[in-house]
Amino acid sequence: MAIHSREARHGASAKSALRPPALRLEGVRKSYGHVLAVAGVDLTVQEGEFFTLLGPSGSGKTTLLRLIAGFERPDAGTIELAGRDVTSTPPHLRQTNTVFQDYALFPHMTVADNIGYGLRIKGIPKAEREERVQTALSMVRLAGLDKRKPNQLSGGQRQRVALARAVVNEPEVLLLDEPLGALDLKLRQEMQLELKRIQQKVGITFVYVTHDQEEALTMSDRMAVMADGKIEQIGPPVEVYERPATEFVAGFIGISNVLERNGIRFVVRPEKLHMLEEGQEPRSGMTVESGIVEQVVYVGMSTRYIVRLDRGEQLVAVRQNMDAPGQALRYEGRRVRLAWVPGHTYVLDHQRARGESALSEHDTEER
Ligand SMILES: Nc1ncnc2c1ncn2[C@@H]1O[C@H](COP(=O)(O)OP(=O)(O)OP(=O)(O)O)[C@@H](O)[C@H]1O
Ligand SMILES: [Mg+2]
Repeated sequence: MAIHSREARHGASAKSALRPPALRLEGVRKSYGHVLAVAGVDLTVQEGEFFTLLGPSGSGKTTLLRLIAGFERPDAGTIELAGRDVTSTPPHLRQTNTVFQDYALFPHMTVADNIGYGLRIKGIPKAEREERVQTALSMVRLAGLDKRKPNQLSGGQRQRVALARAVVNEPEVLLLDEPLGALDLKLRQEMQLELKRIQQKVGITFVYVTHDQEEALTMSDRMAVMADGKIEQIGPPVEVYERPATEFVAGFIGISNVLERNGIRFVVRPEKLHMLEEGQEPRSGMTVESGIVEQVVYVGMSTRYIVRLDRGEQLVAVRQNMDAPGQALRYEGRRVRLAWVPGHTYVLDHQRARGESALSEHDTEER
């Protein structure tokens, strides 16, 4: 096989705990003039991990990726790849490859020449090169298009060429900067699964940049949420979504319903809210509050109900559209009760919350 599995590339000890992490950043900072683009980042990515940097525009994701690739030098901090300090190593001597947002294909070269370019530079013999290019082409499902030029391809096809061109070099770490940003929703969702499949197959460590929350949740083994050049939280998608560390994280990933009761601020996600019908009793132990449905937002598979609680706050509840078509819209203006299991909420600002001795008396608890 031309593109080798992780085991083939690293030998049987690949999974040994003794191997250093694929990537380690410590205290990395970078300013442009007085803009602090990356404000002290520590993180470790394990070999073979799909790691995502998620954050709003301007939060420092691209800068961090460029620092890892070596296109920028940090003002402070260290960068290690596979246990080796590469802070001062130029990009071409690092075991990384980057897929840029604009793909950056060579317009005058065919698809096959684009993909084989890195191998040619490395002096890989023609026969092996051609075999590896063909394997890469079929991996990204572009077999047969090798003679085309980039301008004879669709956006999604160009994106896959860029990916094949990076993967074929078998880098230790593949850096991807919003690689699916230009694609329509359907193709993007297909490519998300495709990318994940390729990553699992070749076992390359991925550091993936996106500002799309769903993409990060779908694809990552772990993700870091960035804001203002800093990491707000690192963890597996489930943890980041279900247990957001800060209000920013809660608000940036999914819809956050933040409530404050008895001095405790907590998040209750829309899908954890039960909208009770008239006469319907909540399950025992549930917290119940009443309000009025201000707005009903139909989103195809589900409906969002924007409810103004009698105590003032606005909450969003969501329901699958399992009833007859159009039923959901009849809720507008109705009085409803919202119920939730206290254990399904999550307290924000943990330090502060832990300091509150009366936490157990409140109707919200940390799980
Ligand atoms: N070469 C540069 N010169 C000056 N400022 C820069 C430069 N590159 C980035 N910045 C600034 O650094 C900050 C972080 O930019 P960066 O490109 O890393 O953000 P990002 O998270 O990738 O955003 P986006 O999602 O929009 O791509 C921004 O405020 C940006 O304006
Ligand atoms: Mg960017």
